[in-house]
Amino acid sequence: MAKIKTLFVCSNCGVNSPKWIGKCPSCEEWNTYQEEIIEKSSARTPFNTLKSEKNKSIPIPLVDVQKGNLLRMPSGDGELDRVLGGGIVKGALVLLGGQPGIGKSTLLLQLATQSSYKVLYVSGEESEEQIKMRADRIGITNKDCIIYTETSVPVLLKEAENQEPQLIIIDSIQTLRLPDLDSSPGSITQVRACTNEIMKFAKTMQIPVFIIGHINKEGAIAGPKLLEHMVDTVLLFEGDQNYAYRIIRTQKNRFGSTDELAIYEMKSDGLREVPNPSEILLSQSEELLSGSTVAATMEGRRTMLIEIQALVSTAVYGTPQRSVTGYDLRRLHMLLAVLEKRVGFPIGQYDVFLNIAGGLKVVDPATDLAIVCSLISSMQDISISREIAFAGEVGLSGEIRAVRGVDLRITEAARLGFSKIYIPKANAKGMDQNRFDIEIVGISKIEILFNDLFG
Ligand code: TYD
Ligand code: MG
Repeated sequence: MAKIKTLFVCSNCGVNSPKWIGKCPSCEEWNTYQEEIIEKSSARTPFNTLKSEKNKSIPIPLVDVQKGNLLRMPSGDGELDRVLGGGIVKGALVLLGGQPGIGKSTLLLQLATQSSYKVLYVSGEESEEQIKMRADRIGITNKDCIIYTETSVPVLLKEAENQEPQLIIIDSIQTLRLPDLDSSPGSITQVRACTNEIMKFAKTMQIPVFIIGHINKEGAIAGPKLLEHMVDTVLLFEGDQNYAYRIIRTQKNRFGSTDELAIYEMKSDGLREVPNPSEILLSQSEELLSGSTVAATMEGRRTMLIEIQALVSTAVYGTPQRSVTGYDLRRLHMLLAVLEKRVGFPIGQYDVFLNIAGGLKVVDPATDLAIVCSLISSMQDISISREIAFAGEVGLSGEIRAVRGVDLRITEAARLGFSKIYIPKANAKGMDQNRFDIEIVGISKIEILFNDLFG
């Protein structure tokens, strides 16, 4: 019996080595080398021996390239079109990553069953019956949706060639394999080789392909970083599974901006688009509660008014607890330190719980101002009027720093009927406040704001 040959491959950059190395000499990451069985020497039958060889590209002068080549196909889902930069581009390879159970299969099956294109939905994860059950839940309107449970890449590409679909969906890249490679499906070698074949197919046939990719513990798409370099667009599905709201962020897009964001709500009959996030992210209750404030945040280019809830209570155990949902814990520690050192609140001895309504993860630093107000409101047990919104970044010395897109934030707060908004003084300077139907207060330091709010 022939001895099995193995190789160590860096899961970050894809460089290989005959022996295990702790630190990758190429990308300098630690502990990324994984053992893999290397390829048999038997002749491979890659995709380019198929009949689509005739579509092979030839070198042409840039000035002669036809612009119309970048044709977009509206997906029928406004939020998805938005993150793709205005629709699906022909021949594009789109990678959709996310935690298990977040809704990747649901989203793409929904696209398959509700679009008006001929779609080939390839699944290596679920059986036809399972897919049918899910499709029945979300409703099938597309007669031209073909389900194919196959994991061998050459076989499925051959079938795709016969079927000539307008769109291909693959769930997931980690289940696919090239039979000529000895390593198991999901290994770096397989993922890379399979993506490569699919990419060649997409480009030569001009058919857009969506690929689902699993995510590893660190939140990166499993497989080499190389995978993200190969595809045209990388979308990341985020959200807390205990809540209904989901966000798709564009991490890379060769055909549009990475500033876009899609918001969905997971319902019993699939994912529903949320074109007006503020209206659901603000709690409907009329009751005034301490610790609750509204932040005028901006994710990508979308403004959203989000409710922030804080609970500050006397620590029961020796070490105070800090817990956050939808916010960066380290940033909370920073804000607590600022409140303690610069404003003199002994908040270090208290348990602090912070919650962003809807379970959405916000990364906008302009949320800081609403958060510090929530914390102090809860600590002092003084409620803040529901008519007030906040936008501003808090610096290490307690100063309020300018934020981007302040006009959009004010407009959104005014549209939703808020009567007052606190913004950084630097942003308020020279602004024509009469343009907005809301009282605008510019603030330079948090002490001044607290005097204003809590007296
Ligand atoms: P799924 O799309 O299988 O996630 P992924 O492919 O990312 O692993 O989705 C999962 C969850 O969504 C599952 O736990 C059930 C729930 N769900 C709904 O709430 N409503 C629905 O209509 C569907 C199809 C799923
Ligand atoms: Mg799935």
